[in-house]
Amino acid sequence: MNDYAVMHYPAANRVYAESSIRLLVSELRAFDERALGGKLTEVAETTIGGVGYVTFRAPELSEQDIELLSNVSTLYALFGVEGPVLRPLTVRRLDKFDSDLLTIQKYSGKTNELFTKLLLNVTALGIDRPEEMLRERLRVFDPMCGRGTTLNHAMMYGYDACGLDLDGKDFEEYTRFIKTWLKNKRIKHQADTAPIRRNHAHVGRRLDITLGVSKEAYKSGETLQVSYVHADTMRSNEFFRAGSFDIVVTDAPYGVQHGSRSHVNGPGRNQQRGSDLARDPSRLLADAMPGWASLLRPGGALGISWNAQITDREELVDMLTDSGLRVIDTDAYRGFQHRVDQAINRDLMVAQRPTG
Ligand SMILES: C[S@@+](CC[C@H](N)C(=O)[O-])C[C@H]1O[C@@H](n2cnc3c(N)ncnc32)[C@H](O)[C@@H]1O
Repeated sequence: MNDYAVMHYPAANRVYAESSIRLLVSELRAFDERALGGKLTEVAETTIGGVGYVTFRAPELSEQDIELLSNVSTLYALFGVEGPVLRPLTVRRLDKFDSDLLTIQKYSGKTNELFTKLLLNVTALGIDRPEEMLRERLRVFDPMCGRGTTLNHAMMYGYDACGLDLDGKDFEEYTRFIKTWLKNKRIKHQADTAPIRRNHAHVGRRLDITLGVSKEAYKSGETLQVSYVHADTMRSNEFFRAGSFDIVVTDAPYGVQHGSRSHVNGPGRNQQRGSDLARDPSRLLADAMPGWASLLRPGGALGISWNAQITDREELVDMLTDSGLRVIDTDAYRGFQHRVDQAINRDLMVAQRPTG
């Protein structure tokens, strides 16, 4: 048996306060359960040299194990512990682009970058062959993507990223951001924005981007796809093919106001526009879930974060189960609830579309 130590991002404390270590432990356990074959034991917080680490024991980690763990959302550095010495292990993150892709955008109502990565990770681990998260170009859909935090993370991992949101301002802001970012970084791409019409009626707008991780990749046609549709999530199936996604993942409306951004409820600007953004979050999830589930391929996974003060865990389990999905209900996946503020207790749940 070997001993290992994870140094976590100091910034994680600012995001999660006292829950930071517990979330890291749960994420490590989720990686272990789903992709490392359950080889980590004694996962716990330990102080070494006056600094907090999360340590665990395991047989020698394989290259693939280290590659997987390199992507744990708050992992800063990984060490082998040899007596009093910490030996650094080389982390190999999936990251394909500069990290400012994730950090430049700042706005009220943004889902924190570290949490978006956590949610994407544990959802990717929910697919039938989780190790594919390292090598395959997975197809990811965020059916309420706001200004694109999930799209940016999926892109970062080299996945195809599709999103949809009803808020027109979010669509415009994301379009502006991503086009500028691609241009400034001199990333080869083609971007098109177009209205969507059905029977002469305007039903939405869409942005489609084809880009290459490198010039060579772009030239040889090895491209990534980023698409964003401005429409109601209830219509997701009109814009994307059934069974066409490996991952559907979203941070659902919390049922509270975020500064000037009304994500649901209350007389915010969304209501003034007469849109359906004001729908009660539990009802929105119940109504939209079957459609989202149908977009998953068999073996694909759906991950959702939500405000547990508004919707009960059991209610959400029923919605996912009624949509034909199997909830991953292990200790690791039950360990993610944390306080965001006095009105929000955020939790997450992942479910798989069965293969048989
Ligand atoms: C918690 S926010 C997601 C924020 C996003 N992850 C980000 O960082 O920008 C929830 C999103 O759900 C969207 N939403 C609410 N009702 C919707 C509906 N019926 N159809 C599509 N999007 C909806 C809101 O516009 C909001 O952007």
